[in-house]
Amino acid sequence: MWKTFSALAATAGLLASPGADGVGDPYYPQDGNGGYRVSDYDVHVTYDPAKPDFLSGDTTVTAVATQTLSRFDLDLQGFDIGSVTVNGLKATSSRAGEHELVVTPAIPLVKGQPFKVRVVYSGKPVGDSWQPLRGGGVSVIGEPHSATAWYPVNDTPSDKATFHLTATVPTGWTVIGNGLPGPTTTSGGSTTFRWNEDHPVVSYATTMAVDKFTVRTSTLPDGKPIINAYGTDTTYLPDSEALLPEIIQFLSSKFGPYPFDSTGSIVVSAAQASGSLALETQTRPTYDGAFFDASAVHELAHQWFGDSVSFADWRDGCIAECFAQYAGQLWDEYKNGADLTRSYREIVQSNQDKPDFWQGKLYDPGADQPLSPALYNKGPLMLQALRIAVGDSMFFHILQTWTSQHRYGNASWPDFEHLSAQLSGKDLTDFFQSWAHSTTIPPAQYLYL
Ligand code: TRP
Ligand code: ZN
Repeated sequence: MWKTFSALAATAGLLASPGADGVGDPYYPQDGNGGYRVSDYDVHVTYDPAKPDFLSGDTTVTAVATQTLSRFDLDLQGFDIGSVTVNGLKATSSRAGEHELVVTPAIPLVKGQPFKVRVVYSGKPVGDSWQPLRGGGVSVIGEPHSATAWYPVNDTPSDKATFHLTATVPTGWTVIGNGLPGPTTTSGGSTTFRWNEDHPVVSYATTMAVDKFTVRTSTLPDGKPIINAYGTDTTYLPDSEALLPEIIQFLSSKFGPYPFDSTGSIVVSAAQASGSLALETQTRPTYDGAFFDASAVHELAHQWFGDSVSFADWRDGCIAECFAQYAGQLWDEYKNGADLTRSYREIVQSNQDKPDFWQGKLYDPGADQPLSPALYNKGPLMLQALRIAVGDSMFFHILQTWTSQHRYGNASWPDFEHLSAQLSGKDLTDFFQSWAHSTTIPPAQYLYL
């Protein structure tokens, strides 16, 4: 038995090579890593808001090797590494580049082999995503990057995984995370919170918020929990909160079934004024100060567009922001009888002589602005133009096919163009060329004025 195993290990050793230190994203080539795919994160952290410069973590990453690996990288910024094990055996580790944690297992990993990496770490959290809150707590959020600031991760949207959080804080504080709550336990002055998200999450949509939250729970008509958490110095708007089930119901009628098992909101008050910070943290968006129905519609629409169906790479911002922004207009149409074709025409006409308005590209907007303002301004116009071009029922058929075909996965903007043409039977090449890939106003034939 041992002989066979060591022979196998020796063979693996000969064939093994290091996993790449990035997945080669066009905008962030060093993000993520090669040689494995993650299926689950089990993140354990201990944090005391009175000592904001210290977090201790003990995170287990479950993955499968996609090549025979002599070593591989995880992404993590800051912290001191206490120990690393791979499948329970002590591994060696070193740091490289901006955020590489290089792990060399005692025995090479064979292609196809499932493995668990456990990293014990502690120290000062660094990075912009570590947002101090007015009540002394913290919200860890950020896009495109945030996860590397608190746990070792394959930090690319192209590798989604389920996410389990166990967070221990001094009793009196509350931790809110993604998904469904597990048991909360208290001992020796500390309270441990557990959150389980069993649908895959992109790394930037994972979160942890520590505050003295007031938690309000209710249920959607189908019984899924709604968990709204209001932090220190935030505003509870009963009318907005009461609209949540209707927003989910409305978006489901347009986009197909709500993809997750819970919803709600994490309302925090950032110590540094952020304007109107809001992020589509999975199942439970994070809002600064309060949430209004308009921002809730946008962030909840992201649950379908961005969270369930996620970027293939960072050129694909439009598959999230164009749709989330357009969802706000759909809500206005439903709730207030807004005439979207009319407002579309007004906006196009009032910008006809303004080249700047048309300058941003919707696909591949540029490495310096993956979430370009064009996605929010021009994006909804393109979708309204597409709706005019293919007709209402085909338009929503395309959206619903998209969310079901790619549910819990990844897809690119070019995939959306392809699906639209395929389902509608129209040649949309020039339509999309002029709306999504150009820096000037589309020609009259695609404006439908
Ligand atoms: N995706 C966010 C939204 O539209 C906007 C956003 C981009 C953001 N980067 C961020 C929010 C960083 C908070 C922090 O809803
Ligand atoms: Zn958005």
